[in-house]
Amino acid sequence: MAVALVLAAGRGERLGAERPKALVELAGRPMLQWSLDALAQSAGIERIVVALPPGVEPPPGVDGVPGGASRSDSVRLALAAAGAGDPVLVHDAARPLLTPEIVRETLVALERDELADAAIAAAPVTDTIKRVDERQGVLETLERSRLWAVQTPQVFRRAALDRALDVSDELLASATDDAWLVERSGGRVIVVAVGAENLKVTTALDLETAARLLARR
Ligand code: CTP
Ligand code: MG
Repeated sequence: MAVALVLAAGRGERLGAERPKALVELAGRPMLQWSLDALAQSAGIERIVVALPPGVEPPPGVDGVPGGASRSDSVRLALAAAGAGDPVLVHDAARPLLTPEIVRETLVALERDELADAAIAAAPVTDTIKRVDERQGVLETLERSRLWAVQTPQVFRRAALDRALDVSDELLASATDDAWLVERSGGRVIVVAVGAENLKVTTALDLETAARLLARR
């Protein structure tokens, strides 16, 4: 059975609210609660562990652990608290538009691909992306049909995630997603198309968009 790790220990500096981002009120509930509800409604999730800001109590029905210095450090601490469980689903509380369908699709994708170590939610990029130098001169235009914006949930085989996280704190701090840690240790990661609605709340504009989408549900 799968375990789910929900990352909610960030400060939310770019949002600039008076409390940690995961606890900001969103369409009538704390942001974190939307993800927890989607996971609670998902088949195959045995246990949920949430990485929380220091001093914050876990909501009913889930286990909590104080988060770490970086996002991946929080993953490592939550995984240690989770005990057994394979695969491991990792999700950011900053993506409150998670649905049980997205959870199922990522779990199924990993189950179906024997050779994959991880299956990650993603959406094809719609903007044209250019790589630039330090003076903003364009170096190249990337082939859009091969570009995907990656999201969470990211689902990992337990052994692959354990191996990927067994690195220095410095390397851990430089990881913007956990799948990269698997890629760099030679693992196979596949993307699962889930659409763009599963957005990440980073700024006040994102919060407004998420509130509007959740109010419609
Ligand atoms: N996160 C975490 N532990 C950390 C840092 C981040 O659990 N040490 C979590 C956040 O709570 C969030 C997710 O990782 O759900 C993605 O991070 P991000 O969107 O960057 O959130 P914050 O770090 O809170 O925001 P900011 O970078 O603007 O401060
Ligand atoms: Mg951050």
